[in-house]
Amino acid sequence: MEEFDKRKRKTHAMAKITYVEHGGTEHTVEVASGLTVMEGARDNNIPGIEADCGGACACSTCHVYIHPDWVEKVPAKDDMEEDMLDFAFEPDPARSRLTCQIKVTDELDGLVVQMPEKQI
Ligand code: FES
Repeated sequence: MEEFDKRKRKTHAMAKITYVEHGGTEHTVEVASGLTVMEGARDNNIPGIEADCGGACACSTCHVYIHPDWVEKVPAKDDMEEDMLDFAFEPDPARSRLTCQIKVTDELDGLVVQMPEKQI
């Protein structure tokens, strides 16, 4: 029952997120609030986000560049994410984020993220 309630809570709100591959191919999907931006990509089989560590902020292979219009709207990164981003491929201090550290909320409806040329 608790499991059911948790699922219900997760699925009642959705945010539309657009993942843009390095080559420009766009994937727009609905992601449930409470999941991470990485989980949204993984669950929808979107290529370009590998997430080797499964979301533990320990691999940097879920790296993306946040679209400039969204940089200010995404909650700030913590020190652990900041450190791990040093291991990402060509990180951009202003726009790079690890998608496993960004929780989807209603406020992120419309978010656009761009994948790097490669992960690591
Ligand atoms: S999935 Fe490994 S750091 Fe995000």
